[in-house]
Amino acid sequence: MTQPQSDSRALRNALGRFATGIAIVTAIDPDGHPIGLTVNSFSAVSLDPALVLWCLDNNSHNLEAFRRASHHAINILADNQQDLSNRFATWPADRFAGLPWHAGIGGAPVFPGCCATFEVANETQHAGGDHIIFVGRVERFGERVDLAPLLFHAGQYRTLADKD
Ligand SMILES: Cc1cc2nc3c(=O)[nH]c(=O)nc-3n(C[C@H](O)[C@H](O)[C@H](O)COP(=O)(O)O)c2cc1C
Repeated sequence: MTQPQSDSRALRNALGRFATGIAIVTAIDPDGHPIGLTVNSFSAVSLDPALVLWCLDNNSHNLEAFRRASHHAINILADNQQDLSNRFATWPADRFAGLPWHAGIGGAPVFPGCCATFEVANETQHAGGDHIIFVGRVERFGERVDLAPLLFHAGQYRTLADKD
C-alpha cells in the first residue's frame, strides 16, 4: 500500500485518486494570440478576497505568456466537452482554430457551454517545484446550473452518476 516517495509513477497514481473537475485556462499572449491549456490543478483559495489557483508546468510552451498576461480565464468544462479537453492537452498548434469564444477581461478567451467561468487578474505567482502556482483574483464569474461537470479520476474522464 505505501510506496517510497521517489516512485513518481506510484505518486502520480495515488494523486490521481483525488477526483477533480477539468478546466481550460486561457489568456492572450503579448502578440495578441489566444493561448490555453487543459488543467485539473484548479482550486478555490479564498472567498474574501476572492482568490483561486492553478498550476502550470515549468516546461509549458506558454509559461512566459501566462506570467506576463494581466488576466486569465478559467473555463470549467461540462461533461460534453471532453473533445475540448483533449484538444487543449494535446494539439501542438492553433488550439483555438474553428472554436467559438469571446474575449473576457484582459482579452482572455471565454468559451460558451462551460459549467462555470472565472475571469481573474494575474495576482501572484509562486515557485512550486516543477510547476508554477498562479494565484488569481476573481473579477467576474458565471455559472450554468443546468450543466453537469466533466470529471477526472484515476487517469480517466468520468461523469457524475448523480446529476441532481
Ligand atoms: C486531465 C488533464 C489535466 C492536466 N492538468 C494540468 C495542470 O494542472 N497543469 C499543467 O501544466 N498541465 C496539465 N495538463 C497537461 C497539459 O494540458 C498539456 O501538457 C498541454 O499540452 C500543455 O500545453 P502548453 O505546453 O502549450 O502549455 C493536464 C492534462 C490533462 C489531460
